[in-house]
Amino acid sequence: MANAAAHLLAGGLVAFPTETVYGLGADALNKQAVARIYEAKGRPADHPLIVHLHSMQAMNQWVEDVPEYAIALARDFWPGPMTLIFKRSTLAQDFITGGQETVGIRVPDHVVALALLEAFHILGGSGIAAPSANRFGQVSPTTAQAVSDELSEYLNGEDQILDGGSCAVGVESTIIVCTGRIPRILRPGGITIEMIKDSTGLTPVQLDSPNEAEEIRVSGSLEKHYSPAAKVLLDTPPTTGQGFIALSESKTPDGVIRLADPKNEVEFARDLYAALRKADEMDLAEVVVEQPQGGGIAIAIRDRLERASKGR
Ligand code: TXA
Ligand code: MG
Repeated sequence: MANAAAHLLAGGLVAFPTETVYGLGADALNKQAVARIYEAKGRPADHPLIVHLHSMQAMNQWVEDVPEYAIALARDFWPGPMTLIFKRSTLAQDFITGGQETVGIRVPDHVVALALLEAFHILGGSGIAAPSANRFGQVSPTTAQAVSDELSEYLNGEDQILDGGSCAVGVESTIIVCTGRIPRILRPGGITIEMIKDSTGLTPVQLDSPNEAEEIRVSGSLEKHYSPAAKVLLDTPPTTGQGFIALSESKTPDGVIRLADPKNEVEFARDLYAALRKADEMDLAEVVVEQPQGGGIAIAIRDRLERASKGR
């Protein structure tokens, strides 16, 4: 960890596991290092990055104007699959925020991520900027192998990929904008509407169309995103030769290639991206996904699948 943290402080890149998906990290104060993230991902430079911290207290130097409901959220759900967006302090420069006046902060819940963040903090680092460790527009990686498949040709010999096994949540963090009187959900995830209500006593606004979210640029809100090479078809009967992802209660018709059979929504989220990657490894032309219904994390699953189905 000390070695990886030192590499970050020297301007290098380190991919690391979180409970949601793997991130590609750089020192959030180092403009050149952050520029390498954009290069490796092939991502447009005006898309902001999330700053990852080892503790809630460390956020004070990055942000201003923290509303009370955000303190409740941070206390209840950090470390965890939640990113909070605040007015930025001068520490959060344009190369992190995409030139916006806000900055996204997250304390991830994964032993490896927290150990890396802690080691980075001890060496004097302020925060690790990290988007999901995939090429722009592709499916986020949930294993170290998937990171390597996506990015190894864009990393140099010194850069590191830390292996922390498969991600437990499997879809990216819930993004909550905390600049107004009530929380606004920019991207659904593991922290659900019900959890936000219980924590804050407020009913969050959902910014669920790219147009509504327009004033806030969020690449994960682009209509086409999270896409495998295979065409993703939603809620149609699967036919011979197609891949198929559905809850285990759904049977697999003859000739259909079952890619995942999660027992519930939580397992569905955990297994989804690996199953989409498997479709590409098997060179399948089409994957049918029977979407889980209802609230909770199923909302995040349908959000990602909707975008994946728009293709690249
Ligand atoms: O679960 C996650 O959030 C993962 C892990 C690695 O932490 N990270 C992740 O980062 O998904 P990324 O960059 O792939 O997606 C973060 C989204 C982007 O769409 C970005 O535009 C948005 O968060 N974002 C970051 N800062 C923002 C800000 N200040 N205002 C609006 N959107 C922001
Ligand atoms: Mg991403």
